[in-house]
Amino acid sequence: MHDLSNRKILLVGGAGFIGHNLAFKLKEFGAEVFIADSLSVNNYCYLMSHRAKNPSSELYLKFIKERLDLLEEKHIPLMVLDARDYHALSRYMDDIKADTLVHLAAVAHADRSNKDPYSTFDHSLRTLENALDNTRSSKSTIKHFVYFSSSMVYGHFPPGGVTEETVCDPLGIYGALKYSGEKIVIAYNQVFEMPYTIVRPSALYGPRCISRRVIQIFLENAFRDEEIVVNGKGDDKLDFTYVDDLVSGIVNVLGNESAKGGIFNLTYGESRAISDLVGIMKKYFPKLKVKYVPKDGLTPDRGTLNIDKAKKSIGYAPKYPLEKGIEEYINWYREFLKK
Ligand SMILES: NC(=O)c1ccc[n+]([C@@H]2O[C@H](COP(=O)([O-])OP(=O)(O)OC[C@H]3O[C@@H](n4cnc5c(N)ncnc54)[C@H](O)[C@@H]3O)[C@@H](O)[C@H]2O)c1
Repeated sequence: MHDLSNRKILLVGGAGFIGHNLAFKLKEFGAEVFIADSLSVNNYCYLMSHRAKNPSSELYLKFIKERLDLLEEKHIPLMVLDARDYHALSRYMDDIKADTLVHLAAVAHADRSNKDPYSTFDHSLRTLENALDNTRSSKSTIKHFVYFSSSMVYGHFPPGGVTEETVCDPLGIYGALKYSGEKIVIAYNQVFEMPYTIVRPSALYGPRCISRRVIQIFLENAFRDEEIVVNGKGDDKLDFTYVDDLVSGIVNVLGNESAKGGIFNLTYGESRAISDLVGIMKKYFPKLKVKYVPKDGLTPDRGTLNIDKAKKSIGYAPKYPLEKGIEEYINWYREFLKK
């Protein structure tokens, strides 16, 4: 059990799906947690300005409201701030004097990144550079910088999956920018000796997500009695990860000195085919209809991210195989819809 009670942790992009769940977990472990987020990318302001175009926007606004209510209830302050603004971020960092910065801000979706490379660069790399440069400033109190990368840095997975040693060859804008981010973080360490950790999560799912990745889309279609659409033949594999496993892994990263200077795959550690996911969903929704369509050329062939390094060196211990994670997620969703 890690004690983070003497820690002050700033989450940049912390009002997003992963960030708010991470904030709750860090608070449970005693940390003082601060969030800086513009609420503009895949969040409240975006939903408000695209209400008419998005049939789920009313439901997703309720998810966001619950995120914000829970943050307030748990006394986790949220500073609405655009991290592309160097000086705004600088002022906030001077003000709170955190010892740890976790950088999550991004356009966190491969398809959206390919459609809008300019703003993806801005929200992902500009915000990262601002956070790094404020961290290396003489006034900075940050002793550990954690960067959220992605499994998309690997590109097509070789058979048997990837370890952190696998050569990265990203495909498309999202993976390329995530990989550039890793290189910049490492360069700041080389030049300024800034302690860092890079984490590579994959295919997250769980409460209050509005990103509409495959599990969420399937689940919402199932609740609406609509068919689900599988890209490809259903044999594509993903290392689906329940958000609670990832955020527990970040606690291990923050609680272990040995995590500094490391890159870690943080997933469940076992890929599952989309057809497995469909099978699990059918147990909950027996009448579920499935349609298969051709896959696009920009989705890499993926698989398992080996998590042995995180298990051995920081004691990472994921607990949610797909069956258990889906059960948790469906139960949460059902309860939410009753509110
Ligand atoms: N969710 C996944 O499956 C997954 C997988 C691998 C990696 N990641 C990475 O994890 C991180 C978090 O992902 P998520 O799923 O929580 O995404 P999300 O879209 O839910 O959250 C991103 C947050 O960043 C904020 N943000 C974006 N630009 C900003 C800016 N200029 N200033 C301040 N805040 C800004 C957004 O408002 C949003 O709240 C991202 O870096 C993403 O690339 C996510």
